[in-house]
Amino acid sequence: MKTEIGMKRPAHFKEYWPGMYNFFSHYEYVSNVPQPLFLITTLKENGKVNACFHSWSAFSGDSGGFYAVMPGLMKHTHTYKNILRDKEFCINFLSVEHYEACQATIKENDEDNDELEAAGLMAETSTVIKPPRVKEAFLSFECKLHCDMDLSGKNISTMVIGQVVNAVVDGNHDNAAELCGEKGFMYYVHAPKNPVTGDGENAGAIAVLMPARVE
Ligand SMILES: Cc1cc2nc3c(=O)[nH]c(=O)nc-3n(C[C@H](O)[C@H](O)[C@H](O)COP(=O)(O)O)c2cc1C
Repeated sequence: MKTEIGMKRPAHFKEYWPGMYNFFSHYEYVSNVPQPLFLITTLKENGKVNACFHSWSAFSGDSGGFYAVMPGLMKHTHTYKNILRDKEFCINFLSVEHYEACQATIKENDEDNDELEAAGLMAETSTVIKPPRVKEAFLSFECKLHCDMDLSGKNISTMVIGQVVNAVVDGNHDNAAELCGEKGFMYYVHAPKNPVTGDGENAGAIAVLMPARVE
């Protein structure tokens, strides 16, 4: 059975935590499009490294440039402030073995912390921008801020678009099947809800891809 869901959150969709349907659209929970997970590194005003575990995004471009489109960066994050101030950031893709370290960056969120060090990850100097790359990443995009737009106008989240000015690829990561497995991209499926009742376990999944066919 297919269910159609309008722009207004169905009234019977209960909140699992206060503000759940303010921070996120109800479409988020009934659609559950898997999102690649990565760490955004920026510099705090005091020069220490900030790290933000992030998911909502897409990556594409043409001969004029390659862009990292991040339509769901919360405006309250340090990352957003740092990007607005310095106009640069680094996107780092880590495999699922580093999931706990990525989570630790959320707890290690003090102004005085070097968040990579506190999470047990290593910084490596970027080539074009000031924020460092993550050494353990198999792919990093050094980005310059291209633009920023509050799509909903609600002052909650914003779409940050960065232009990739340098890409750093781990030499061993050249195999499609491997990129799909445990050593490849990490994905997030955010707490699925039943599209009719709005009910569901309030738990998401961290996932890796499984190749259906390699051609
Ligand atoms: C799996 C996962 C995915 C996340 N994705 C995002 C995201 O796409 N956008 C966002 O603003 N926060 C996201 N967060 C929350 C941020 O990681 C969190 O708010 C972080 O503390 C922000 O760090 P900062 O204030 O140092 O920038 C995610 C958290 C988790 C656990």
